[in-house]
Amino acid sequence: MVAPVTLCLELLGIACLLATATSREVNQFPEGFLLGAATASYQIEGGWNEDGKGESIWDHMLHEHPEYGNNGDNGDVACDSYHKYAEDVQALKDLGAKVYRFSISWPRILPNGDLDVINQPGIDYYNNLINLLLENDIQPLVTMFHWDLPQALQYIGGWPNPILADYFLEYARVLFDNFGDRVKLWTTFNEPISFTRGYAGSGGQAPSQNASGIGDYLASHTVIRAHAMVYRLYNEQYRSTQNGRVGITLSTNWYEPLDDREETLAAQERMFQFEFGLYANPILVDGDYPAVVRERVDNNSRAEGRPRSRLPSFTEEEKRMINGSADFLGFNSYTTMTVFSREHGISPSMDRDSGAFRMPNYTYPTSSAIWLTVVPWGFRRVLDWASTRYPNYPIIVTENGYADYGDLDDQERISYYGQYLAEMLKAINEDGVNVIGYTAWSLLDNLEWNSGFSVKFGIYHVDFNSTERTRTPKASASFLAGIYRNMSVPEEYFQ
Ligand code: NOJ
Repeated sequence: MVAPVTLCLELLGIACLLATATSREVNQFPEGFLLGAATASYQIEGGWNEDGKGESIWDHMLHEHPEYGNNGDNGDVACDSYHKYAEDVQALKDLGAKVYRFSISWPRILPNGDLDVINQPGIDYYNNLINLLLENDIQPLVTMFHWDLPQALQYIGGWPNPILADYFLEYARVLFDNFGDRVKLWTTFNEPISFTRGYAGSGGQAPSQNASGIGDYLASHTVIRAHAMVYRLYNEQYRSTQNGRVGITLSTNWYEPLDDREETLAAQERMFQFEFGLYANPILVDGDYPAVVRERVDNNSRAEGRPRSRLPSFTEEEKRMINGSADFLGFNSYTTMTVFSREHGISPSMDRDSGAFRMPNYTYPTSSAIWLTVVPWGFRRVLDWASTRYPNYPIIVTENGYADYGDLDDQERISYYGQYLAEMLKAINEDGVNVIGYTAWSLLDNLEWNSGFSVKFGIYHVDFNSTERTRTPKASASFLAGIYRNMSVPEEYFQ
């Protein structure tokens, strides 16, 4: 079991480490590899209207429409991390985490989304969290936007309104000014493909706007521009003094073709391009949308009798700004689905434009999330795929994890992590994929969006019936702690 690659990790002054391949077994992580855990503001913080925080689109939607959630669950209190962040840091410390991925709630910093009010208690909260992490030798990896848009900005249309890019730029500036001296790893957006669905139908993602096949593309367009503007801002005004790294987190499953017919393989390609390439191609490849996406949305728009494509276009100047606007790729992946060619979905919709259909393969072990089956080999394939398609960008796996019903003795989660981490290590050590970090989803049981507290991803149990929101480590927490301590995955997971 010998690793055939030489890796140079040059990140945030963690030093440049040369791990020569020959010295490392396949079950070992490269030296300097960042292992940790992840959360997101709305899913854990609570304190939804405390100390000057503004309303977010998720606060708004689940208050107005509790039926869009589960059983009346919402993020009003969640894990109460707004008050209990020190316990979260202790949990990370016990885990042996070197990195904590969390997100900043935009309306906690800017209650109206704009600079008219800068909420000092919100800034204090994240300063306290960041300082405590650093005191415990845990690097913050900060997501600027994990779906909780200030409702004030939804009143002007939200992400489909191009001006949101300017608002996001100013918000990012506040973050760099206040936290950039200590935060060296940033991702702008978490999973744009997920939150832009909030403009493609009602009852699911906030803000639940019915503009399928139009609003989702417009939102994505603004988000890509906003991301690039923030990246350029960092280059021009902060990089030389703060010396951090700025990336974006995109998500995809592995899509296994149903058969090896040409049309099925073409559908597999379309699925990847509509879900991942939509963002990765402009940002990491050439500044523009994938050709297959451009062509299909343009053609469908024409056939629908529209005078313009539902997919907007970037100007040449925007393409130059967008192209190459990332220092690393944040990568979320959980499962594998089967894909084949099929016209489906309402018209217009991204589904219909893609002409590709996906479904979970329930012959694999299931979880408490309907979309998540346990297919470890797919994780290696999707990492290989991403690093082949988008070379030159180090990958941080910003999310990966398993959903159950909350058992403290969570053997299925242990098995998931053991197997998925083994596949990731094969990708790193045998296939030469440049993965430099991994944050397990999630540190805590938390609000799984519309599924509420019923779907549990935590390695720490949270007692949502107690006002204390007591945290208790599950068996998987000590399993991962062993891996993090030894920087290796037990050999049995490689058999
Ligand atoms: C994706 C999202 O980023 C996160 O918020 C969510 O809880 C997990 N995946 C699990 O569904």
